[in-house]
Amino acid sequence: MMHKLKLIVPFVFAIFVLVACNTSDDVSTEEEPKENDKEQTEEVTVDQELEEAKNRFVALGAMPIPAENPMTDEKIELGKQLYFDARLSGNNKLSCASCHAPGAGYGDGLATFIGFEGFEGHRNSPTVINSGYYEEYFWDGRAGSLEEQALGPIQSEVEMNQNLDELITELNSVPGYVDSFDHVFSEQITADNIAKAIAAFERTIVVTDTAFDRYLQGEEDAISVEAKEGMKLFAGKANCISCHAGPLLSDHNYHNLGMGGDDGRFAVTGNENDKGKFRTSGLRGVAHTAPFMHDGSLATLQEVVEYYNTGGGAHPNKSVLMQPLSLSETEVSALVAFLESMSGELPMVKKPDLPQ
Ligand code: HEC
Ligand code: HEC
Repeated sequence: MMHKLKLIVPFVFAIFVLVACNTSDDVSTEEEPKENDKEQTEEVTVDQELEEAKNRFVALGAMPIPAENPMTDEKIELGKQLYFDARLSGNNKLSCASCHAPGAGYGDGLATFIGFEGFEGHRNSPTVINSGYYEEYFWDGRAGSLEEQALGPIQSEVEMNQNLDELITELNSVPGYVDSFDHVFSEQITADNIAKAIAAFERTIVVTDTAFDRYLQGEEDAISVEAKEGMKLFAGKANCISCHAGPLLSDHNYHNLGMGGDDGRFAVTGNENDKGKFRTSGLRGVAHTAPFMHDGSLATLQEVVEYYNTGGGAHPNKSVLMQPLSLSETEVSALVAFLESMSGELPMVKKPDLPQ
């Protein structure tokens, strides 16, 4: 009966109904004298809750490809070479793969990045897995496309510290690159084309075929019973889905989770209310990308869920969606199992031979 009620209330109120639902369940458990009846009702309720939860998730779908940068095998191969090539940095020591390494979930495994000549950054290197699905890039969304993003770290003094004109001169001294750019773009080496090739390669780094996705497609046993419990919590009591929603499991929006020390989105909008807001992370592949959050402050998925369980830290801009969750240890583990079920296998990319 509670579930019928749940279906007719608007989506935004679902969490409150769930809270009410749990409370009345507790009461009825205490007052219910007939063991058998109780078990039967609970069994039916559980399945229905799982179906309802499952129906709130959607498949990821195909990677969107911008019309002005079509994918070709040659372009992807060129982009891969550039991605792994330390000649893209001012001291020829750092490549994109230094901080977005296939073996570290396409991040660097560090809490915060180490940049040019040992510069100690204050943000975590995010993964490039599924990054082509975002609409805005960086933790604060300051870049509008992967093409735009790629030239950022190359020029950043604290990352690769490479002047673009000098880079083009340097790559022009490598006949293999001159040929490849000519072949792929029918043009000379330009910053634009460097960015396009790298972005095309990044769009091949995807995690879509996860156990979670197979479960959504109807493979009942694709995820464990524990992960199914986690799915219910994610869409229900823990309310993760209020932000981690839609095909990417990100609402493409910015939220303050109660973490201080970084103004986040404010740097882009100049709006006080945006202080400390960061873009909601997509979650496929997440088990491979520890440590977590914009500052890498949470080392494991368990710590992430425990952070949410407390309702987050104190910040004037903290989202109203951040509330203490009263999750038991078992429920925390179930959420972790669910996050793991979305993580699939990483695309394995080896460092290619670089053009000479
Ligand atoms: C020294 C480490 C370092 C290097 C080298 C580096 N990055 Fe990053 N990358 C970062 C950090 C840190 C961020 C997040 C910065 C922020 O949000 O302010 C980031 C962000 C990104 C993002 C955004 C991901 C998202 O979810 O929005 C992409 C894509 C990316 N880098 C690709 C690249 C490419 C391509 C290169 C090479 C041209 C590169 N990076 C070089 C550390 C690095
Ligand atoms: C109010 C919106 C909101 C809610 C609710 C929310 N998240 Fe998040 N989540 C975010 C944002 C925003 C980030 C990035 C925050 C940052 O880096 O500081 C994030 C980051 C994460 C990350 C780390 C991703 C990474 O690569 O570092 C995980 C894992 C995660 N959330 C899982 C969950 C789970 C599980 C729940 C429910 C218990 C949940 N989230 C509830 C908005 C939300």
